[in-house]
Amino acid sequence: MKRTLYKSACLALALLVAVTIFQRSLTPDQFLQEPLPPTVESPQTGNLVKANSFWKSPEDVVAPTPMASEAPQAWDVLTTNCSININLTHQSWFQNLEPHFRQFLAYRHCRYFPMLLNHPEKCEGDVYMLVVIKSVITQHDRREAIRQTWGQERESAGRGRGAVRTLFLLGTASKQEERTHYQQLLAYEDRLYGDILQWDFLDSFFNLTLKEIHFLKWLGIYCPSVPFVFKGDDDVFVNPTNLLEFLSDRQPEESVFVGDVLKHARPIRKKDNKYYIPPVMYNKPTYPPYAGGGGFLMAGSLARRLHHACDTLELFPIDDVFLGMCLEVLGVQPTGHEGFKTFGISRNRSSRLNKEPCFYRDMLVVHKLMPKELVAMWELVHGNLTCSRKLQVL
Ligand SMILES: *[C@@H]1O[C@H](CO)[C@@H](O)[C@H](O)[C@H]1NC(C)=O
Ligand SMILES: *[C@@H]1O[C@H](CO)[C@@H](O)[C@H](O)[C@H]1NC(C)=O
Ligand SMILES: *[C@@H]1O[C@H](CO)[C@@H](O)[C@H](O)[C@H]1NC(C)=O
Ligand SMILES: *[C@@H]1O[C@H](CO)[C@@H](O)[C@H](O)[C@H]1NC(C)=O
Ligand SMILES: *[C@@H]1O[C@H](CO)[C@@H](O)[C@H](O)[C@H]1NC(C)=O
Repeated sequence: MKRTLYKSACLALALLVAVTIFQRSLTPDQFLQEPLPPTVESPQTGNLVKANSFWKSPEDVVAPTPMASEAPQAWDVLTTNCSININLTHQSWFQNLEPHFRQFLAYRHCRYFPMLLNHPEKCEGDVYMLVVIKSVITQHDRREAIRQTWGQERESAGRGRGAVRTLFLLGTASKQEERTHYQQLLAYEDRLYGDILQWDFLDSFFNLTLKEIHFLKWLGIYCPSVPFVFKGDDDVFVNPTNLLEFLSDRQPEESVFVGDVLKHARPIRKKDNKYYIPPVMYNKPTYPPYAGGGGFLMAGSLARRLHHACDTLELFPIDDVFLGMCLEVLGVQPTGHEGFKTFGISRNRSSRLNKEPCFYRDMLVVHKLMPKELVAMWELVHGNLTCSRKLQVL
């Protein structure tokens, strides 16, 4: 316990040092005028990425252990070395693409980036379900609403099962002015709540796939034995009680992958659509089955196999489709479930169903609620709600 506390304290301090150095562009020597434990004086400490592992002995950090070929002991990408792929830039099909596709393709080979904020301790102890939420640096209000509602950590998932822990997954701000203003706030937020993982890549729509593979790699290193993972967006309503009830008759060894599953979905070829994919990027008529990224559940064991499966594929710009491609490599079919309404309860936006708490009470995941609506709906669902009948969705 003391050791854990010491580690956490070191970690917090290291992150603080790292973030501050990063932001003020101080050299480590300038910064070290403040009193710090002796271990921090190693010249490597100025390097942001070493911060998370600096309490380990130098041999641990430098020399890869024999097991390193299977899974590294710590995040092992320590520098960003991502240069544009000049093989593409001269090709005419490439030049004819829209700018964001060119940007995606030109950097597609850069698969892993260093960590800026990490929580190696997140899965210490007995953890039953890890809840991870895709978020961006500016959406602080959404994270706050989730912490107050469905993202609350609990020490027991009930019925003698382990804890439920929560993490937000972030990249860096996509605009320079946001980066300087928000990074420091984010580090502060993380010190308060200890629930942010951040990697050093731009948080853009097409980089969501990077977020997916970074998380899977992270899980294999820091959370290798968690039975279940829920992954979702930051604008959904989740009913954790129903998730846990759903999981209660599943075994962690099963290849559980459950969500709002789309089968035979066709790539969108209309250029003005957010999900437009040109035929040069994907020429098959349909995508493999995949679960909508709004929220899905998977077994931890499957997540670890997915990490290796994804590593055999070229990145695809739509993250949930990409995960479907990885599942296809494993030969695992995602399972559709009525309780995942990641496209909203009713596609008719003005439908009263979308505001009906009795529906939310019986669902697992519902898209899409803004922070205030989320908190209000959560209170309604957990207040004295009288519903005429319980839907049979579980
Ligand atoms: C970055 O990668 C290039 C080519 O892969 C290599 O030549 C160069 O030395 C690398 N730079 C660093 C700082 O690792
Ligand atoms: C560019 O092409 C060369 C030769 O075919 C290949 O070795 C290299 O890996 C390619 N670079 C990238 C970034 O794909
Ligand atoms: C993804 O992030 C990397 C690293 O920050 C950046 O170089 C690249 O341009 C980004 N890609 C897209 C499509 O935004
Ligand atoms: C959507 O729902 C509203 C209210 O229930 C209804 O009046 C309207 O006709 C519906 N629109 C469509 C296109 O179904
Ligand atoms: C729920 O109802 C009970 C009894 O009717 C009442 O005492 C309690 O204050 C109510 N709770 C809320 C949150 O409205």
